[in-house]
Amino acid sequence: MPSMISILATLRDGSTQAISTAPDGSLMEALRDSGVDELLALCGGCCSCATCHVHVDESWLPRLPDMSDDEDDILESSEHRDNQSRLSCQIPLTEDLDGLKITIAQED
Ligand code: FES
Repeated sequence: MPSMISILATLRDGSTQAISTAPDGSLMEALRDSGVDELLALCGGCCSCATCHVHVDESWLPRLPDMSDDEDDILESSEHRDNQSRLSCQIPLTEDLDGLKITIAQED
C-alpha cells in the first residue's frame, strides 16, 4: 500500500477542505472521490470539458507535469483562466505532491 498524501483544497466559498488520498489516479479523481461536488468533471477526465479547472498554488506549479496542447486549448475556453490554471484531470497524483494546495476555479 502506498502511503497517503494530503491535498489542501480551497472551495468556491473560500472554505478549505483537507483531503487524504492514495497517490494514484488523477487530482480530479481524488477531489471528486472526497466529495468536492462543485468540481463537476463532466467529461470524466478526458480533457474535453474544463469543469475540473483548478488554480494551483504558485509554489507547486513547477512540480507538475507540463501542460499538453489539448489542456491549453480547453483552458483557453474558460473566462477564469490565469497563470495558475490547470485541469485537475491532467495531473497524476504522486507521492511528490504531498501537501499540494489548489483552489477550485469559479464556474464558467
Ligand atoms: S474532467 Fe473534463 S477536462 Fe478534466
